[in-house]
Amino acid sequence: MRLACITVTLFLILKCCTASGEAVTCTGIVPMRYRTDKISIADFGGVGDGRTLNTKAFNEAIYRIKHLRRRGGTLLYIPAGVYLTESFNLTSRMTLFLAKGAVIKATQKTANWPLIAPLPSYGRGRERPGGRYMSFIHGEGLHDVIITGEKGTIDGQGGVWWDMWRKRTLRFTRPNLIEFKDSRNIIISNVIFKNSPFWNIHPVYCSNVVIQHVTILAPPDSPNTDGIDPDSSSHICIEDSYISTGDDLVAVKSGWDEYGISYGRPSHDITIRRVTGSSRFAGIGIGSETSGGVYNILAEDITLYNIGVGIHIKTNIGRGGIIRNITVSDVYMVNARKGIKITADVGDHPDNNYNPNALPVIKHVRIRNVRGEKVQQAGLIKGLKNSPFMDICLTNINLHGTIGSRYVAWQCSDVNGGSIQVKPSPCSELIRSTGTCSSQF
Ligand SMILES: *[C@@H]1O[C@H](CO)[C@@H](O)[C@H](O)[C@H]1NC(C)=O
Repeated sequence: MRLACITVTLFLILKCCTASGEAVTCTGIVPMRYRTDKISIADFGGVGDGRTLNTKAFNEAIYRIKHLRRRGGTLLYIPAGVYLTESFNLTSRMTLFLAKGAVIKATQKTANWPLIAPLPSYGRGRERPGGRYMSFIHGEGLHDVIITGEKGTIDGQGGVWWDMWRKRTLRFTRPNLIEFKDSRNIIISNVIFKNSPFWNIHPVYCSNVVIQHVTILAPPDSPNTDGIDPDSSSHICIEDSYISTGDDLVAVKSGWDEYGISYGRPSHDITIRRVTGSSRFAGIGIGSETSGGVYNILAEDITLYNIGVGIHIKTNIGRGGIIRNITVSDVYMVNARKGIKITADVGDHPDNNYNPNALPVIKHVRIRNVRGEKVQQAGLIKGLKNSPFMDICLTNINLHGTIGSRYVAWQCSDVNGGSIQVKPSPCSELIRSTGTCSSQF
């Protein structure tokens, strides 16, 4: 363990900087705003005693920001204390600032939770037909929103929702902790997200979103508590964050089968950098809902402990969608079920109307500088006969098995590409054909 820590530290020091010594960051993707107009939730009757319901205070404070329209926007200050509330909507040109010791906590009374329409790219709720419960903190059609502070907490108290999922008593799809829909210029930083009912942070149909210095926590057995799911969104930058949840840490998506294909909105130009965490599922995930397409994704400097699958690209027949130009580099993982997995038989369908001829395409995937210890299987890459994965190129990969246990060899089918310096030696499909890898290999 100590050796692992030293190795990780060295690895991070070596990898943190550009040639000039400056860390590469998301800066510049969203303009930073300093707001001179400031209000406090206390001015609107907010009480941080952990018992008083503060829905009215949040709604009135945000109504004030929306209608007074102060130049440069308004900062809503949440002082230390525990503010219980029902779900609420944000507005444009605002900063939600959680002071040190501030907690915004979701009510556990789920009976009156508001319902909203399903996403057009999903056609229905992700887990149940029909509408879906509104996310705890919701933003629709917004611009210039910042959620930040001094590491305050947004707590979804998701336990009641996980139990409904386990007992199969959910009527509609569970709420995300935070969703921005059709929004742009969003910054989420220096906040702790805890116990989301469902996915934690869900930007959908968004552009220009920065998520940095966040901590996202949910128990390893909490169902579908994905960390960050950029969905049919572009120019998203995620960095310097710790995520430990019950499902994928980061999963890039773009809609579900025939609904996602007809909505046709890809996820693209997304950077994921210096993310650390653990999960029984994927570290860096793409999919499985990728019907609008996914391209130009860069994930780098990723550190994973006790992880199901380090790097997981997943789709399905009926999804359609092209997944291309994916680069994953400088990944370190300890104790993983699988290092790298790329498959096209994952996940369910929204209904029986999906088109079985809508085959997904995966091409131009670069994975380089990956090291792992206690990895049960280094790689599993299974393409489709009628849509083989193309130009999958692996460089400098060392994924070691558990000492003393039987090592599971690479498994591949219907894939072409190549490999350089990959240990253990990958499947023959990737050994024989480095020539198909393009120059940036
Ligand atoms: C919050 O936003 C949703 C989605 O736009 C909307 O359906 C709902 O009425 C809004 N709620 C309030 C209290 O404004």
